[in-house]
Amino acid sequence: ARITLRQLLDHAAEHDYGVPAFNINNMEQALAIMAAADQTDSPVIIQASRGARAYAHDVMLKHMMDAVSEIYPHIPVCVHLDHGNNPQTCMTAIQSGFTSVMMDGSLLADGKTPADWDYNVDVTKTVTDMAHLGGISVEGELGVLGSLETGMGDKEDGHGAEGKLSHDQLLTNPDEAVKFVAETKVDALAIAMGTSHGAYKFTRQPDGEILAMHVIEEIHRRLPDTHLVMHGSSSVPQDLQDIINRYGGEMPQTWGVPVEEIQRGIKNGVRKVNIDTDNRMAMTGQIRKVLSENPGEFDPRKYLKPAREAMQKLCAERLEAFNTAGQA
Ligand code: G3H
Ligand code: 13P
Ligand code: NA
Ligand code: ZN
Repeated sequence: ARITLRQLLDHAAEHDYGVPAFNINNMEQALAIMAAADQTDSPVIIQASRGARAYAHDVMLKHMMDAVSEIYPHIPVCVHLDHGNNPQTCMTAIQSGFTSVMMDGSLLADGKTPADWDYNVDVTKTVTDMAHLGGISVEGELGVLGSLETGMGDKEDGHGAEGKLSHDQLLTNPDEAVKFVAETKVDALAIAMGTSHGAYKFTRQPDGEILAMHVIEEIHRRLPDTHLVMHGSSSVPQDLQDIINRYGGEMPQTWGVPVEEIQRGIKNGVRKVNIDTDNRMAMTGQIRKVLSENPGEFDPRKYLKPAREAMQKLCAERLEAFNTAGQA
């Protein structure tokens, strides 16, 4: 059944669990997520970015969401717009059947220029005012994602802020978070504490210097009833880096967000955990393996089925680790 983000995260808060939000662009990813949710008896958030909407078409996404609800009627599914860049994008997502939207006003509509306070409050409030009239949930973002190691935004990965950022921009200010939630009435708040999108988050195993989990703890103390969202939460597992590189890939060594740190976040108000990169890597590892071991193969099902299974396995592991399992 279709469920809103607010309904799902209220339940998660009441029962002390987190919900992974997995990105989709195609049927294989949608089916992998649902198979994992079914296998672990979990509710789930499926999210699509503007890039996914352009890739797959809104009509295709709409019907895929209907299809998964029909195939798995017992699994609660929230369909969420990831990183909406302006109110129009959010409204057209709602028209396509999304039950939740992110208005990311931490950046201007160009998706790369850090926004000021008034802009962020204004666009976010415009969306909550409209969406809430129709019972649709809204996620806002305060603070800019990027690396505390280098001070750089994550634009290299095609997403997020361009250029050098200050620590003030890279870490959400708890006082401002309180004010932002009061002014915008968002259902969930994404915060910045050192994660970035993509595979290249950290050049070493992260510690408190470069992954500032204490910021989450402080914000949760000040806003105990607000559902917090962690973006850039792929763990970039070593085994997935290894399989990609063993079969012809060239990914430089990198570190992501350890699952234990996400679990610590979930103890401190984090309810939505965004994961895309790990699933991309899980699929790519299998596709590389099948094609390199079977160079004569040309039936897409021969590599997409193992790719789907690897993504299902990863999704199921996160659903278990975040205690989403058993909550459907
Ligand atoms: O926010 C980043 C997500 O991984 C979506 O990425 O914009 O390339 O679809 P995308
Ligand atoms: P990753 O790139 O770490 O998977 O983050 C995904 C994300 O935050 C989507 O909004
Ligand atoms: Na989002
Ligand atoms: Zn994100």
